[in-house]
Amino acid sequence: MLRNFTLYVEKDYQTMSQKAAEIFAAAVNLAPTGAYGFATGSTPIGMYEALIKMHKCNKVNLSAITAFNLDEYYPISASDPQSYQYYMRKNLFDAVNLPPANTHIPSGEAKNPLAECIAYDEKIAAAGGINTQILGIGNNGHIGFNEPDKGLMATTCYIPLAEATIDANARFFASAKDIPRHALTMGMHSIMMARQIILLASGEGKADILNKALRGPITTNVPASLLQLHHDVIIVADQPAASLLN
Ligand code: PGA
Repeated sequence: MLRNFTLYVEKDYQTMSQKAAEIFAAAVNLAPTGAYGFATGSTPIGMYEALIKMHKCNKVNLSAITAFNLDEYYPISASDPQSYQYYMRKNLFDAVNLPPANTHIPSGEAKNPLAECIAYDEKIAAAGGINTQILGIGNNGHIGFNEPDKGLMATTCYIPLAEATIDANARFFASAKDIPRHALTMGMHSIMMARQIILLASGEGKADILNKALRGPITTNVPASLLQLHHDVIIVADQPAASLLN
């Protein structure tokens, strides 16, 4: 049984990305100066492209939001092309005139990662909490970098990456020794406090984990399954990713 999710199954990646962008833009149009949560990875890139197009023809104004990203590798320099700082500037922020002061990503350069995590949650709270949080889902069911484990962290935290995540990210790095093994990530409470969540899933490689997350038992072994406890989750999937849900 699908719990209280709103599920959109779109034909392919492009239509899925467009649908997600329209849902997100509608939320921003209601609260153009609110705080919004962003995700990285390959899945949201099409949605960000669609948002940039909508921004350019005045269907949405993204230049006054406050942005909070889910996670960042640690350690990593903000200028490293593999950093999520770099990813967000290139794939969205620069194209929508969002001033750097409005954008927040846990710093992969922080001297004290624990202090960085505490400060990050304080910034989210000071911004009034996140209106709409965009999420991808890892092949292992992670959201942000909350990896399957016996327990999950509530608040933003410094964590080791799962081997499955390191393997999945290897494609972005020149050599294995360059792949970061730790990250700073918003924790489960930080994510679940968002008023609305949009979960994106694309490709048949995500079909099994999406099915487990949405219909399986709620378990820390599939962190995305905790979304079953959230009151307003919108799933936007393409047909291959949703193929086991019917
Ligand atoms: P992907 O990553 O979009 O590159 O598949 C998703 C995730 O790890 O959250």
